[in-house]
Amino acid sequence: MNVPFIDILRYEPGLLDSLATTTQELLKKGQFVGGPTVNECEAAIKELTGCSEVVGCANGTDAIQVALRAAGVSRDDVVLLPDMTFWATFEAVVNVGARPATIDVSKETLHLTLESVREGIEKFKPRALLMVHLYGWACPDTEAIRKLCESTGVLCIEDCAQAIGVVLNGKPLLAGAFLATTSFYPAKVLGASGDAGAIFCQSAEIAKRARQLINHGRTDHYEHGLIGWNSRLGAYEANFLAHAIPHLKARLDSRRHACARYRNEITNPHLTMLAPAPGVEENGYLSVAVIDKDLRPRFLDYLKANGIGFGTVYPGAMSEQSGAREELFGRLSHGHAQWIASSVVNLPSFAYITDEEISTVIKLVNAFK
Ligand SMILES: Cc1ncc(COP(=O)(O)O)c(C=O)c1O
Repeated sequence: MNVPFIDILRYEPGLLDSLATTTQELLKKGQFVGGPTVNECEAAIKELTGCSEVVGCANGTDAIQVALRAAGVSRDDVVLLPDMTFWATFEAVVNVGARPATIDVSKETLHLTLESVREGIEKFKPRALLMVHLYGWACPDTEAIRKLCESTGVLCIEDCAQAIGVVLNGKPLLAGAFLATTSFYPAKVLGASGDAGAIFCQSAEIAKRARQLINHGRTDHYEHGLIGWNSRLGAYEANFLAHAIPHLKARLDSRRHACARYRNEITNPHLTMLAPAPGVEENGYLSVAVIDKDLRPRFLDYLKANGIGFGTVYPGAMSEQSGAREELFGRLSHGHAQWIASSVVNLPSFAYITDEEISTVIKLVNAFK
């Protein structure tokens, strides 16, 4: 049996029919961009995440750019970000004219620590921090880092592209964030049928600015108070997301189940299965293992030869991408991001993966010599 790394076509019964009907209604009404469907989708996401303000937009990269701009980050401001993240986090800083400085992550938790952020603030005097929550986990020092940022006047913006549904110390991660963003790219735990994203915040003023930025800086239909761009959320994507939200719990449960089974049943001594820190309830976006870097190529070839999909999220540190060379303001590195990049392996944990598929993966991984 082959098991793909991801299969996003396991729709719940009735979902496609309902989408077809409601999409036709949108077409008949000429409701293509914005409108009541987008408002209803934003309201449903508010309820889901516990955030007081939600602004839908075109994708998760724009969401970070909008958040940075809406919070007041401007040209030449320094923005801290972890050296282990997706490139979009780095790109977004550069795209708003700011200067990215990378700080290393912990080898144990794979996330930023209070100490590393403190060191970054002292060394680089940043205007903002982009705290990234990767793998469907949360940065375990989130609450302490939020407080440190508040007391030092550093804007704390959280990239939650992989963290919808994550719970930290009993509360939805997003509910406690001052300003955060996500991606609804189809492969995410809450995915649309195309690109989409959102900005989350507790400030009505920042939300208002974010709405203006995603709509050409409009203060009125033909009045423009800001230089924004077009990053509006389309009605089809909003409709698709509104259909997915009622199923999110079942999707997360099945992903969490796969990650837990891998952790409990993979016994191959070459592989170390990693878990989120205590207090963090994962959403199952990715299962995370590490293997000796010299052995990894042979292990990945073995998975490939046996029809098992895998990921290596992410295979390179941000500060070492060729695109970073001209842009990097500075970096604090202990080589941890590089270690993760060369040793990480992710096994399939998509929504509605079956127990038979999970058992196939476990059996094959345990048989690797
Ligand atoms: C951590 C992180 N940040 C930002 C993004 C960018 O989101 P999008 O692809 O919707 O622009 C992603 C998407 O993969 C991501 O994983």
